[in-house]
Amino acid sequence: MKRREFMRDLERGGVAAVLASFGGATGCRKAGKSAAASGATAGTAAAGAPASEAKSGITPRTLLKATRDPHIEVDLGAIGRNLERVRARTNVPVMGVVKANAYGHGLVEVGRFLESAGVAALMTGKLDEAVRLREAGVRCPIANFGPFGPADAEEILRRGVRQVVATDGDLAALDAAAAKAGVAAGIDIHVDTGMNRAGVPAGEALPLIESAASLPRIRIEGISTALTEDPEFDREQLRVFVEVCEAAKARGIDCGPRHAASSGALFGADDVFLDMVRPGIALYGYYPNARTMREDSLGLEPALRLTATITFVRDVEPGESLSYLRAVRIDRPTRVATVGIGYSDGYPPMLGGKGVVLVDGRAFPVLLAVTSNHVMIDLGDDRTVRVGDEVVLVENRRGSEAAADSLAVASGGSDYKFLIGLNPLLPRTYREGPIRSASTSG
Ligand SMILES: Cc1ncc(COP(=O)(O)O)c(C=O)c1O
Repeated sequence: MKRREFMRDLERGGVAAVLASFGGATGCRKAGKSAAASGATAGTAAAGAPASEAKSGITPRTLLKATRDPHIEVDLGAIGRNLERVRARTNVPVMGVVKANAYGHGLVEVGRFLESAGVAALMTGKLDEAVRLREAGVRCPIANFGPFGPADAEEILRRGVRQVVATDGDLAALDAAAAKAGVAAGIDIHVDTGMNRAGVPAGEALPLIESAASLPRIRIEGISTALTEDPEFDREQLRVFVEVCEAAKARGIDCGPRHAASSGALFGADDVFLDMVRPGIALYGYYPNARTMREDSLGLEPALRLTATITFVRDVEPGESLSYLRAVRIDRPTRVATVGIGYSDGYPPMLGGKGVVLVDGRAFPVLLAVTSNHVMIDLGDDRTVRVGDEVVLVENRRGSEAAADSLAVASGGSDYKFLIGLNPLLPRTYREGPIRSASTSG
């Protein structure tokens, strides 16, 4: 068959017709119950004349677009505007948190963008993240809050990373590497004021600061603590932290900028901003908790949109079931669609039975059938949704039912975990203008 005829047949009759013209469809049918016979429409397969739709309830045949799917779009402009909102609120320099693949938005692209937007520094949670940023040409200060060992010290210096330290052993490792390389090691002293997670305990911080200050190859470039985000206890933590900083100052030691405030502290008293703030989630357009989300006092703009494609639509009859272990029992005629995304992509299984997705701006419930590569949704009595349609799983619009924070509320989960859990391998595209949003398109 010539190419033009092939394309014409494809348009008119789809794959089944083309296969039939090769004698292929017969072979397929022999192999067992065909997709059409079972009332299903798969992405690249089978039946679709209106007559068969009337009979089986399947959607007309649609070829999936060649697509890198699922897909993430990030509006860097929204991140830039969120940064401006944080700046306007705090009036101090910002250390932009890009750990965990920039909360799923893409480490390198967001890191580069924030650098160009003039952040004072970037914060990583792993040395490898800092290395990747340097390899991508990011030159601004990078503070690595992740752990390191003596074997990493040389690389930390070579990459010009500001390493967070908490022990004399940390100082010794960096000092030795600095002596060998003939350079100075920039550090940030991390003080534990109550998280009991990382850092030098506040009561032991001063001797560590004095040790650091006594080492000519160590340069203290910052001092930090992490707040628990318990409003009352944060005040106590702040008091203890400032006391440590004052004690160092009284001994003539300049520790550089003091920083404690992550997004949670942007909404309380101003004195917690100190010399620099260290927000993550707010830069990406989300609030750190339900109260601040409701109040929306900064007017943050979510920056990320996650889409995938309908790969399969079918009518399921009472008595049938869906997914593994027959997870969903069908007791009324139900039209279901499969979306080409699953928990291997980072879509949280806990959204099964609780979340919604948007197709053409309309919300459809996610069924209790989220598997590693498939999410099944309930189309109700809708007969317009087709294989190949775009599904919005995370909408970049505040207040949307499919915004990451709304989904987190619905499922009892967390928008942090949702965003951070998005598979780093998913294709991402970036723009600085608005991303088309299903329910606000136009
Ligand atoms: C030490 C530290 N600072 C700042 C942040 C940013 O937090 P948030 O995303 O709540 O702003 C984090 C994130 O977990 C963190 O671990």
